[in-house]
Amino acid sequence: MHGSRVSNGMSDSEETQLEARLAEQEAFEPPAEFVEQANVSDPSIYEEFEVEWPDCWERAADLLEWETDYDEVLVDDDEPFYEWFVGGELNASHNCLDRHLDSRGDELAIRWEGELGDTREFTYEELHREVNEFAAALRELGVEEDDVVTMYMPMIPELPVAMLACARIGAPHSVVFAGFSADALATRMNAADSEFLVTCDGYYRRGDALDHLSKADDGLDGVDHGTTTVVVDRLGDDHDHDHDLGDDQLDYDDLVADHAGAEVEPVTRDAEDMLFLMYTSGTTGKPKGVKHTTGGYLSYVSWTSHAVLDVKPDDTYWCAADIGWITGHSYIVYGPLALGTTTVMYEGTPDYPDKDRLWDIVESYGVNQLYTAPTAIRAFMKWGAEYPDRHDLSSLRLLGTVGEPINPKAWKWYYKHIGDESCPVVDTWWQTETGGMMITTLPGIGEMKPGAAGPPLPGVDAAVVDGDGEAVSPGEAGYLVVDRPWPGMLRTLYRNDERFVEEYWEAYSDPDADEWVYFPEDGAKIDEDGYITILGRVDDVINVSGHRLGTMEIESAVVDVEGVAEAAAVGGDHEMKGEAVYAYVILEDGYEESEEMRDRVVEGVEEAIGPIARPEEVVFTPELPKTRSGKIMRRLLEDIANGDELGNTSTLRNPDIVEDIETKVAGD
Ligand code: PRX
Repeated sequence: MHGSRVSNGMSDSEETQLEARLAEQEAFEPPAEFVEQANVSDPSIYEEFEVEWPDCWERAADLLEWETDYDEVLVDDDEPFYEWFVGGELNASHNCLDRHLDSRGDELAIRWEGELGDTREFTYEELHREVNEFAAALRELGVEEDDVVTMYMPMIPELPVAMLACARIGAPHSVVFAGFSADALATRMNAADSEFLVTCDGYYRRGDALDHLSKADDGLDGVDHGTTTVVVDRLGDDHDHDHDLGDDQLDYDDLVADHAGAEVEPVTRDAEDMLFLMYTSGTTGKPKGVKHTTGGYLSYVSWTSHAVLDVKPDDTYWCAADIGWITGHSYIVYGPLALGTTTVMYEGTPDYPDKDRLWDIVESYGVNQLYTAPTAIRAFMKWGAEYPDRHDLSSLRLLGTVGEPINPKAWKWYYKHIGDESCPVVDTWWQTETGGMMITTLPGIGEMKPGAAGPPLPGVDAAVVDGDGEAVSPGEAGYLVVDRPWPGMLRTLYRNDERFVEEYWEAYSDPDADEWVYFPEDGAKIDEDGYITILGRVDDVINVSGHRLGTMEIESAVVDVEGVAEAAAVGGDHEMKGEAVYAYVILEDGYEESEEMRDRVVEGVEEAIGPIARPEEVVFTPELPKTRSGKIMRRLLEDIANGDELGNTSTLRNPDIVEDIETKVAGD
């Protein structure tokens, strides 16, 4: 049994030897037992996808049920506005539910666990029923095809129900992470003209009932048009918050009960019709509304769930992300349900009531695949192997990571202590914009190199280039680019085609030569075998615990605090979070540096964005280092945050300030 390795007879010195061997090992073959049963294990797939491209993507589309077959796999008449599976018609909710009913109606679609240990299960039949009932309710509330419905919900089953209900009636959803602030909710509802909101009264964190509805209500106060809100009762009587619903607020349970037994015919959607919007952070202050489509996105997440996560219908699969981010959309909801498997959802934190919570869930549910973020793995590592060692984790067949670079040490810890050296670990690089995974080893084929995500997936053409777009030599740092479109790609930024072209295509494309290159704004390097190591963002985006935050958004929140004149936010290395926010703040005359001012800055950021953006350090300074043209030198501020040696400061207008700030940060 995999849960009690040390007591299984391995002595301390054998254990130490094993650690030493792992520390040196740079490449790992996929375990033979895994390869034997893998969905994809024939290396010729890489070649086949090249030869067949773009028709290779029919294999992804074939994982779905289409009402009308598509005429063309890819239409590229108006680059970079690509269209996939053109002429095809389908419905995502039908693909995730109805088509499984005959074969898997009694099998579990969702296994949910609340933080307090309460559980709920939905068979495909039950999920189908509730989605139909809620879809009928949404319709009655006036939701029409193409209306954007916003969801501001934590990890409760009603969230995927609401998403699938929207998909059923052709209403795109826009899910706002529950940890985001009221302001963030209002901004997103306004940007999408969204008149409908689904939210809940609250949820549990570390055993406490958190009030969520007050935050939602505050957000609604900032929405500039009329709204209708549906409120899920998660907490029951277990809270002291006053939750009387407003006139335009309806109770979810009442609505579903009123539509008991309702059946809603899935609306026929064109492949290119919008399935959902997801707002994400970019270089400028305003979040970007990434638009994903029904045919291309659903095909792509199904294909990558099949090929990379090795999902099979009989599996119990767990992606321990939050549905409020793209990872949860693609790999908790759409990918696994489209393949008819059992997807696990957990409401709470990994250390409640104890640090073995995840391993307890893996053991008791018999989880086969676990997909999580490096930040979580670093925490597990810090807590120690004794926690996973308490449990039998032998049901695990595959491990995955996503969201930020994983250092080899954490990779190996995961491989050894969670996977017992018998599960492949896939380090998957992708983004909100890519819809699904782009760069990773295929677990049934590729050798794994800890620290490197791997080669691009079959059919994906990614490269690492210099500033002129020329390929860099192996080992050299450069910029990651994607040279060909793929079905899961964003189609545009909602209502902003111009910004879409500017943000992602202008840097490396040559429109005159009809060459279109997607720039994800990540730095990377590539080795002789074509394995890509991601070095992190090259734009003003900070990656805190795998969550993407824009420095401009943070800066504008800080500047909004009374008494703040100017601010710069940068990411500094952080042992657990990957990166943490450092805020450098200049106060207005008449305001003094104080604990109170510091708290106000922190609160200001929490209120504007949410606790995830909370600055790790607030550094008050009389000036910020600026170039002669007045641009803040963020690079220097990052070096200071990291305690790194500073680069050249001679081009600064005010070189002396750098030393002052450095001394201050070092002294804190
Ligand atoms: O910098 C890359 C990092 O996360 C960014 C995308 O963030 P987001 O859109 O929030 O999506 C996160 C989940 C898909 C990327 O530009 N990133 C994502 N995966 C990896 C990664 N960095 C290194 N290795 C990865 N596996």
